[in-house]
Amino acid sequence: MRVGVAKEIKTDEYRVALTPAGARELVQRGHEVLVETTAGDGSSFPDADYERAGARIVSVDEAWESSELLLKVKEPIEPEYGRLREGLVLFTYLHIAADEPLTRALADSGIAAVAYETVETDDRRLPLLAPMSEIAGRLAPQAGAYFLEKPLGGRGVLLGGVPGVAPGRVLVLGGGIVGYNAAIIALGLGAQVTILERSIDRMRHLDEILSGRVSLIMSSSLQVEESIGDADLVIGAVLIPGARAPKLVTRGMLAEMKPGAVVVDVAIDQGGCIETAHATTHSDPVYEVDGIVHYCVANMPGGVPVTSTHALTNATLPYVEAIAEHGLAEAVARDGALARGVSVLDGKITYRAVAEAHGLDFTPLERVLPLAAASGR
Ligand SMILES: NC(=O)c1ccc[n+]([C@@H]2O[C@H](COP(=O)([O-])OP(=O)(O)OC[C@H]3O[C@@H](n4cnc5c(N)ncnc54)[C@H](O)[C@@H]3O)[C@@H](O)[C@H]2O)c1
Repeated sequence: MRVGVAKEIKTDEYRVALTPAGARELVQRGHEVLVETTAGDGSSFPDADYERAGARIVSVDEAWESSELLLKVKEPIEPEYGRLREGLVLFTYLHIAADEPLTRALADSGIAAVAYETVETDDRRLPLLAPMSEIAGRLAPQAGAYFLEKPLGGRGVLLGGVPGVAPGRVLVLGGGIVGYNAAIIALGLGAQVTILERSIDRMRHLDEILSGRVSLIMSSSLQVEESIGDADLVIGAVLIPGARAPKLVTRGMLAEMKPGAVVVDVAIDQGGCIETAHATTHSDPVYEVDGIVHYCVANMPGGVPVTSTHALTNATLPYVEAIAEHGLAEAVARDGALARGVSVLDGKITYRAVAEAHGLDFTPLERVLPLAAASGR
């Protein structure tokens, strides 16, 4: 198959959808790989690295027009809508339940659009979202520790303390992938860590793997209120799948916090779990409300593109290989997880939540692709 890699043109997006190592794997399996010139620059992969891996460097037009399978990181933005076309399989993060113009552009074009974020295993894991949650979780204490410094508006607390001086306290709301990864880095920095979680099973698991190194407490609004006053750093990491994040920290609760404490609301991409949170960017990451520093960068992994590109492509490559090897129809017939990723096909919306979000007709995938083994959606 002819597999293309497009350069990202969204502001502040430095990731690329395939590494030279991934390109080499595909070339070795007999596929042709076309990489748009300078697509890898933001992740420190110059064109020459792809050429050495056996890929061909091409123009933006050739990448979009000659590919059968096109790999991207972010959803197409308006200037790219005209490039969507029938016969092309697009594999990327799409997030189209929140983007009606793009949903319509995809459907009108006849393209096959497969969304990384809805590839879902039978046991409900999201293998192409998990690596970004791991990265955001691990970045959160790092960002929080930095903005706790006094000259940056923080309280002036060193999370690790020193011998004779107590460490800082980190409160993590939600102990899923982001929360667990935030906790282990906060522990590594020497902080005292508390996780509030709502699922008993998840807490049992965290207890096993963290073996008593963190306090695990059942989450409730009373508990949040009681814990928040002690915290130097609060990390928001809750998720209710398919819904906006619950506002666990109200504006009133900020008054209970220590002046100069920092909140890092990682859940900001789902609306945030702190009432006073609004999305910020890497170039302007923080603001202050009632004496509390808020860090709410909506695409935290974008700040570490070298790591993020490797982590993302480690997770996507097996699916890319499957589509390239078998074609989309056969690949989704073999793998229900990949089938759940198919959002738009032949002008039909094949992912229920997307159709419902925009009041459009939903067509089950198996009605468009006779081979599909898509189930349980
Ligand atoms: N800002 C970014 O750059 C970025 C990057 C990756 C992920 N995220 C976001 O981070 C959030 C967390 O993602 P995740 O992968 O860790 O999800 P996850 O499903 O692995 O974990 C969420 C956890 O929150 C818990 N939870 C739900 N309601 C709760 C409550 N009221 N109190 C305490 N815990 C509660 C759940 O039981 C679950 O364990 C999501 O909103 C995700 O979109 C943001």
